[in-house]
Amino acid sequence: MNATSSTAAQVVARPTTEVTVQPHPALCPDGLVFAARQGRKLVDELLAHGIAIEHACEKVGACATCHVHVREGGESLAPADDEEEDQLDDAWGLDAQSRLSCCVKVRAHALVIELPLYTKNHAREK
Ligand code: FES
Repeated sequence: MNATSSTAAQVVARPTTEVTVQPHPALCPDGLVFAARQGRKLVDELLAHGIAIEHACEKVGACATCHVHVREGGESLAPADDEEEDQLDDAWGLDAQSRLSCCVKVRAHALVIELPLYTKNHAREK
């Protein structure tokens, strides 16, 4: 087996976790359930499954446009660090279940995600 086929086999074998995205009028009108690859950033898995969530800072935790509410399963995630908490302060519709999806890595516990109606950028345009 060469290095390329070995890498491909590892990608295929990565365990997955069920992620449910609640309906959102613009980004996901019918809602979506998909198998997210564990260890990957939640924002990358949302994008890979057709959810066009904003990620203005290119997923480095510096813009808060990738804000989501983790309605179920949030307790299984690594807690937000101080930098994520600081960015979340600017998120539209912040609540106790708010996370930056670029700062969350999918683990083994299923997640239920609600996408906020607006992002920080949209709210500013209103
Ligand atoms: S993409 Fe900018 S904070 Fe997540």
